[in-house]
Amino acid sequence: MTMLRPVEAIHRLGTETAFDVLARAEAIAATGREVINLGIGQPDFKTPPHVVEAAVKALYDGHHGYTPSPGVPELRKAVVEDIAKYRGVDVSPDRVVVVPGGKVTMFFAILMFGEPGAEIMYPNPGFPIYESLINFTGAKAVPTPLLEENDFSFDAESVLAGITPNTRLLIVNSPANPTGGTVSRREFDKLVEGLKAHPHVAILSDEIYSRMTYDEREHVSLLGYEELEDRLILLDGWSKTYAMTGWRIGYGIWPESLVEHATRLAVNCHSCVNAATQQAAIAALRGSQDFVDQMVAAFDERRRVIVDGLNDIPGVTCRTPGGAFYAFPNISGTGLSSHEMQDRLLEEAGVATIAGTSFGAYGEGYLRFSYANTVENIETALARMRALLAR
Ligand SMILES: Cc1ncc(COP(=O)(O)O)c(C=O)c1O
Repeated sequence: MTMLRPVEAIHRLGTETAFDVLARAEAIAATGREVINLGIGQPDFKTPPHVVEAAVKALYDGHHGYTPSPGVPELRKAVVEDIAKYRGVDVSPDRVVVVPGGKVTMFFAILMFGEPGAEIMYPNPGFPIYESLINFTGAKAVPTPLLEENDFSFDAESVLAGITPNTRLLIVNSPANPTGGTVSRREFDKLVEGLKAHPHVAILSDEIYSRMTYDEREHVSLLGYEELEDRLILLDGWSKTYAMTGWRIGYGIWPESLVEHATRLAVNCHSCVNAATQQAAIAALRGSQDFVDQMVAAFDERRRVIVDGLNDIPGVTCRTPGGAFYAFPNISGTGLSSHEMQDRLLEEAGVATIAGTSFGAYGEGYLRFSYANTVENIETALARMRALLAR
């Protein structure tokens, strides 16, 4: 019998099922069966060569030591140049905190505002780590339901109606994981107007998919709303945009009053991001953006293939996602639960997907497909799904 007594909160941590499904898919593949992986949320592209070269050069040039905790000055400068270019907003490099992945900004923001008695609002279905971390801090996790009938955007009025004197943080994510939903400028305008009555609420805007929008849709950044300047935390990074998930680098733009707290958390946690990776991140932001355009064009083509294909399967309907690289079909017409469908697709058809419920209770009846895979594999996966359901 174990005598160890880890803190109670540790038992409240959730997980990201995508990693479990990936492990299971790899175990099946190791037995010689072929698995098409539409589970994991990462680009199937390699990081562009000029970015890799910058990291290699940095290692040879001796970038081997600690750097300033919030990032090297040149990188923080490159981030604000990028913000000016793509969001049309001028921010001071002093507000940039570079961290090992987009997730870390989320972790710090939730740690900063979550405690027993506090309430934190988060999208549901949404990135599973939001709810997990809120529960970990002892705060009350208050879901913002994202509904299919709204194309998985939120309804500003109902979000505002959910705010109480205990609400500390509101998390929004557009373009969204797992639904591919995007929030319109009109809806954000309404939200920002309504937030004026709630000056005690901080906002975490997770814009990690900011460069991945389709059909001429603009990415609406909450950073563009000056009235939120003193309470908006922006999360973005390199993982998705430059196919750099394994490099572990991201950034937060923090309100002036919180930068010091975020930097202290960084000092206490990881000291700084890998020095060579920071040089690679500068090359990514300042170099040619053709790679990003080509990758997003490829995703757009696959998006059409997967949405049409899913809508062709009896019992399945799929909205057209406006961003990211996920499709989130409604599978309730098949008579299977999300989990049953996930398991049967993986075990019987060799197709890895993620049950909608992995992203929160509002995900029941849905399945997440990551279409970061080839058109050929997507078509094969759809044919296998169709065959499975016809049995
Ligand atoms: C909505 C959202 N935010 C943040 C992240 C984390 O990104 P990173 O790999 O840079 O930590 C992800 C990754 O899947 C995501 O989907």
